[in-house]
Amino acid sequence: MSESIRLTPQIERILISPEQIAVRIKELGAEITRDYAGKEIVILCILKGAFLFTSDLCRSIGVPQKLDFMAVSSYGDSTRSSGIVKIDKDLSESIQNQHVLIVEDIIDTGLTLSYIEKILLDRKPASIKICVLCNKPSNLQQHVKVDYCGFTIENEFVVGYGLDFKGYLRNLPYIGVVKKEYR
Ligand code: IMP
Ligand code: MG
Repeated sequence: MSESIRLTPQIERILISPEQIAVRIKELGAEITRDYAGKEIVILCILKGAFLFTSDLCRSIGVPQKLDFMAVSSYGDSTRSSGIVKIDKDLSESIQNQHVLIVEDIIDTGLTLSYIEKILLDRKPASIKICVLCNKPSNLQQHVKVDYCGFTIENEFVVGYGLDFKGYLRNLPYIGVVKKEYR
């Protein structure tokens, strides 16, 4: 762990360090590069949570790629899933006949990703695969096929490296657990 990293007051402990994140992203990138060899992909970053993960991951993927963004909200300001998914920003280009790699920050109930996958499948892509930074399988309500997973974590509310708490703390370089008194 870097000496320079200090905990902010809302954080109980660091779950995944910047170094662990960097190593895992290199591994995921290598795996994705092998799996898509000879193909071109559309990397679909789900905003806002996946913005940092996507920016590092895309640089470790060595196949021809385009980048697109979709913004969805499912939580409001709560730390529990509302089950309601709203598209705040849609893709800027068609994905018909394209190999789409969805990049998302975290799966909790699975409601967000299963909804996104369903509406994207209607647009007739050549394929869809899902890459998540974190998976919290203990809360799953809707099965989602995760093709690439950075880290499987316990049922804790985490922030940092793109993940937020009420819109804040996305800028932390690590993934940390929020103190109970803040939730
Ligand atoms: P799901 O629909 O319940 O799978 O929730 C997925 C979305 O909820 C993610 O894209 C996150 O925005 C948010 N979320 C779920 N768990 C956490 C967490 O521990 N920290 C921050 N955001 C979370
Ligand atoms: Mg999100």
